[in-house]
Amino acid sequence: MELVDLQDNFDKTAFNHLRVPQSHPTLMSQAQLPTTGALTGVLEALAFFRDPSFAQQRFQTHGDVFETCLLGQRIVFVQGDQPTADLLAQSACLEGWWPESVRLLLGSRSLANRNGDGHKARRRVVGQLFSSAALRRYTPEISVLVQKLVDELLNSTSPQPLSPLLRRFAFSVIANVVLGLDDRNRDELFADFEIWTKALFSIPNSIPGTPFTRAMNARRRLLTRLKQVLSTDSLSKGGLDLIRGGVDETGISLDDDDLAEQLLLLLFAGYETTASSLSCLFRALLMNPKVNTWLLSELSSHSEQAEREQSLPRLNATVLEVMRLNPPVGGFFRRTKTSVMLAGFEVPADRVIQVVLTPSLPSDDSDFSDFRPQRHLDGSFDQTLLPFGGGERVCLGKALADLEIRLMALGVLKSIELQLHPIQDLSLQQIPSPTPRDGLVVTAKKITVG
Ligand code: HEM
Repeated sequence: MELVDLQDNFDKTAFNHLRVPQSHPTLMSQAQLPTTGALTGVLEALAFFRDPSFAQQRFQTHGDVFETCLLGQRIVFVQGDQPTADLLAQSACLEGWWPESVRLLLGSRSLANRNGDGHKARRRVVGQLFSSAALRRYTPEISVLVQKLVDELLNSTSPQPLSPLLRRFAFSVIANVVLGLDDRNRDELFADFEIWTKALFSIPNSIPGTPFTRAMNARRRLLTRLKQVLSTDSLSKGGLDLIRGGVDETGISLDDDDLAEQLLLLLFAGYETTASSLSCLFRALLMNPKVNTWLLSELSSHSEQAEREQSLPRLNATVLEVMRLNPPVGGFFRRTKTSVMLAGFEVPADRVIQVVLTPSLPSDDSDFSDFRPQRHLDGSFDQTLLPFGGGERVCLGKALADLEIRLMALGVLKSIELQLHPIQDLSLQQIPSPTPRDGLVVTAKKITVG
């Protein structure tokens, strides 16, 4: 199944093979919600921050739905097709939720922190930045950025870390191509954005000099800069003219304070995620030369039309396989307004739920941990993958991410042959998104046709 199909048809088909929850949750058979028994959550919180396999270990002990406590916050972890399908089918009982540091750094106007009509209205406005027409507008500029990266690799006389180049590319797509900034403004925005990002998952306080207060100061500067961009009379570059006339849920135009917070969210949501998928894609191909050859035979023989229509099944399957093994976003949160039933367990009102998207460890000797994109084409894989989330809050920038990944994969794989530098750590650092620890050091050689 293609990545594009899998996500776009999510609500209609993704979970058709599963039991859909009955309209009244209490009619379903109900079992006691498994719990770790943590009360204050101090030790659990220490384990949570230190141990990347925190959730997976507890899933193995308690099953796909369990409750624990992290520093006084009761939180239910969920994984797997059935509980996730149940959750997404009961969206009326849920609202968006973020840890307080993220909530404060994004701001109260951000659509990530809104629910109901206010959330929907802003999704409609911001979504115009990712319409088919908008993507057609961005394509030539993204292609120029791809070519710049290819040239930089080819002109380099020594091995180059590829991941930082891919990060710069992903940031430029949002800052230059979507927001229309010039390079100076982009670099200044980037410097503040790095300070802002460092405190996203930190303890929110107002003590001067802490990462959080530095990040809140950076947030003020970021919003000022974004508002300057919005107030420029001629929004001739980028896509911002597309959202200028956007209105809120009561039909009143969104003011610049509101729009600036939506743009800040795009930097947060769209940069690390896409950079991570690109780094993991090239890492996987370089570590699995047979898959690389299999993919290249599709890319070298496809027509321009297939490329335009995105009918590149092997490329789609390869990207999906990368996201299966290393989802750029490890999970998403909700809070229960009223109780919900997840795979037969009742989760009470006022609980935070974290849906975990990282794959569970195989319990048998299957090829589950292998990088094998063919599984998405030969019918041997029947789980539902949701790297872009699902339901009312499904990723708003998915079409842009797909476009960036496709253009970069085609641009690099068709014109240069990459080789891994032999001395480097290829393991992945997981936070904030999976990235090769040593930056994926490569050498590049031009592919000569004929
Ligand atoms: C490979 C790249 C990406 C992945 C894997 C990804 C994944 C996700 C996930 C898992 C969510 C949470 C969904 C939920 O809460 O149910 C999300 C939300 C979001 N994403 Fe992405 N994303 C990617 C790229 C982008 C890009 C490029 C943009 C825009 C520039 C973007 C904008 C957003 C926004 C605005 C939301 C919030 C939606 C809402 O709360 O209604 N994402 N994304």
